[in-house]
Amino acid sequence: MTLLDADLPTAAAIWSLWQRGVVDSRSPMRLPVVGTVGVDGLPELRTVVLRSAQLDTRQLVLHSDIRAAKVSAIKQRPSLAWHFWNPRHRLQLRASGPARLHLSGPILDTAWARLSDHQKRTYAATAPPASTLEEAGDGLPPLQQAESGRANFCVVAGTINHIDVLQLRRGGHRRCLLSWSEDRWSAQWVVP
Ligand SMILES: Cc1cc2nc3c(=O)[nH]c(=O)nc-3n(C[C@H](O)[C@H](O)[C@H](O)COP(=O)(O)O)c2cc1C
Repeated sequence: MTLLDADLPTAAAIWSLWQRGVVDSRSPMRLPVVGTVGVDGLPELRTVVLRSAQLDTRQLVLHSDIRAAKVSAIKQRPSLAWHFWNPRHRLQLRASGPARLHLSGPILDTAWARLSDHQKRTYAATAPPASTLEEAGDGLPPLQQAESGRANFCVVAGTINHIDVLQLRRGGHRRCLLSWSEDRWSAQWVVP
């Protein structure tokens, strides 16, 4: 697959790669690295699972524990940067824009209802993420208590306004910037 050939890529072509990541656990688009500015002002990165990608709302979505550092960071500075790397196609996508936390409401309800009990249980630790443990362990309760994780679960939606696409190619690398402004996407080739 060559995203960056003679023609500039469309936002639709990029979202279709992300949508593949949502449904295909083997897709490299499945596990982006997401960046925030921490409450201490320092940059923070972590791997997440891409849960949804919608072109019409320009959104990428992840799930988190509300007690996680990334949620505190987003409350203070509500924006996200996303990094994707497809080694087979030697394609890097970087995207960014404002972020919104869903702590209640229908989006949260639907996302929670779709989780398996094993997934729900990952939010059910009584101690917050990064709490100290006396010995090695995951701090999680038995599977029967998975539903209690609901109180700690949240959905994080990032709206994408900028996309930086870089494709490494033997015949010459290609890079282009897509920007959302005045209700439309514009794309521009740039020096890689
Ligand atoms: C493959 C993989 C997938 C992960 N998926 C998620 C995820 O979807 N949501 C999440 O909050 N953390 C996920 N994590 C854990 C985060 O990388 C991170 O360790 C955790 O969220 C705490 O980050 P924070 O303290 O910056 O909030 C994942 C980790 C790995 C290795």
